[in-house]
Amino acid sequence: TTIDMVAEDYALGGFPDFMRKEIAEQGEAVRRALRGRLDDRFATAHLGGLNMDARELRSISKVVFLGCGSAYYAGQLGAQLIEELARIPATAEPASEFRYRNPVVDPDALYVAISQSGETLDTLAAVQELQRKGGRVIGAVNAVGSAIARQCGAGVFLHAGPEISVASTKALTNMTVSFTMLGLLLGRVRDLSAADGHRIVDGLRALPGAIDQVLTDEDAISEIAHRYAKARSMFFIGRVRAWPVAREGAQKLKEVSYVHAEAYQASELKHGPLALIDQEMPSVVIVPDDELLAKNLSTIEQIKARGGPVIAVTNADLPADAADEVIRVPRVAPELDPMLLTIPLQLLAYHTAIALGRDVDKPRNLAKSVTVE
Ligand code: G6P
Repeated sequence: TTIDMVAEDYALGGFPDFMRKEIAEQGEAVRRALRGRLDDRFATAHLGGLNMDARELRSISKVVFLGCGSAYYAGQLGAQLIEELARIPATAEPASEFRYRNPVVDPDALYVAISQSGETLDTLAAVQELQRKGGRVIGAVNAVGSAIARQCGAGVFLHAGPEISVASTKALTNMTVSFTMLGLLLGRVRDLSAADGHRIVDGLRALPGAIDQVLTDEDAISEIAHRYAKARSMFFIGRVRAWPVAREGAQKLKEVSYVHAEAYQASELKHGPLALIDQEMPSVVIVPDDELLAKNLSTIEQIKARGGPVIAVTNADLPADAADEVIRVPRVAPELDPMLLTIPLQLLAYHTAIALGRDVDKPRNLAKSVTVE
């Protein structure tokens, strides 16, 4: 009806659809997530909703992230951040599988249930199974008052604002930002130095500006998306920090453009998938400027040697001819590279979907929140 359309135009605020709007809102969403939570004096974060004192924080022997879809990939990024910043063993697993495998619940572990909507049935069921077995579980939830937030009773709200598009963008970014603050907090009551703590605090504060800077490259990314939109399938390759980034990039492309995509760890390419590389199979290679740079460059060489087109997404100073396409992002701190490297992949998926005439906000067969099994 007319009234609905007027309401929707108003909500879109000049953007063509919600996915595009929510991608653009990420800087602001991150600012909101950080508000009142960064502590410059002690180089740490305040997460009052956790309801845990320093002694309890120190007693955590392991962190396990649970979520579905993009929330699961955010959990993988979270596990990496917790291990790097707090040196606590951390893992992530799909919440949808958890209750079916009779998991060993560790009373010294901290379980983190991740959900934008707070209503995903599989994630809620994992929380209930954990609680039945004495697991300590907190929520990382966007929707205040939602089922998972209420069931957990404690946690970190994401403050991403309403997310309408089925494909998650700003909620995923704020999940990762929240896990960085959790890592900072856990690290600073253990061995993370004040100097490293300050570096992370400063990095988080610089993140919104850096995200906005990536968005200024949208036209170039859109051109690349149009150039490769006819591909039947694409690889997304990353290693260590960039591996969950690759998984999320593949997920986004599948969700909104219906182009088949597969994420692979760079180190595993030679153990099978290299057989699929030819002129028709583009690879998006995520190349952070870290100690694995040389290895990632040799991965690109291996793909090019087999005729595969390469789109590199990087914050390293790569020569323009290092790959067929080079998308650059700024850097704020190495630990935060995954967040900035994810933004171009959102735009790549979005513009591929546009090039193919898809309904980006409501992809076929998918729901924003899955409240059934
Ligand atoms: C659905 C959506 C995904 C989302 C997942 C988890 O499958 O299509 O985009 O990542 O649910 O949703 P949640 O609200 O729990 O984060």
